Amino acid sequence: MSKEDRAAALKVLQTEVAGCTRCKVLAATRTQTVFGVGNITPRLVFMGEAPGADEDKQGIPFVGRAGQLLTKIIEACTLRRGDVYILNTLKCRPPENRNPEPDEVLNCRGFFERQIDLLQPEYICCLGGVAAKSLLNSELSIGKLRKTFHQYRGIPVLCTYHPSYLLRNPEAKRDVWEDMQLLMKRMGIVLPGKG
Ligand code: URA
Repeated sequence: MSKEDRAAALKVLQTEVAGCTRCKVLAATRTQTVFGVGNITPRLVFMGEAPGADEDKQGIPFVGRAGQLLTKIIEACTLRRGDVYILNTLKCRPPENRNPEPDEVLNCRGFFERQIDLLQPEYICCLGGVAAKSLLNSELSIGKLRKTFHQYRGIPVLCTYHPSYLLRNPEAKRDVWEDMQLLMKRMGIVLPGKG
């Protein structure tokens, strides 16, 4: 599929998402849906949990405090935000930033699956337990899922802690950096001092 066709297909999906009312509570409380942002021919896709207040306001994933930390993580990997594509498991903000309900993940599954199918990334990095468990259909905790590669439809998936978790537990930054080093090595991206 050409880049133009991919952009058009993503636009169709985005419009479908914007009109979705499957989750009555989310549809009634959101300002707008938050589809995804970045390079539509990405080597790497980051998958988060759900929009927060800032994302709901701006319509762009990871623009609040957790987003700023994600940007720092991406840049520490010698990449720019515009090199990767960023999406969430849920496209609507859960009220009070509560965790997504299982039926809400189920309702959104078709959207994130189609989005990833269109993007065809070489690698996926799941941020936090909701993304990791939802994508991999796993019951395992993020602590068990990190540090090793999993597969989603043939795509290698690396799971790590969510940036929001790092804001509350800065000591876990070391673990995330280890995960990112593992991912960069597999992607063939040489980090400074790691050549
Ligand atoms: N946390 C997420 O998981 N996604 C966002 O877009 C923002 C915060």
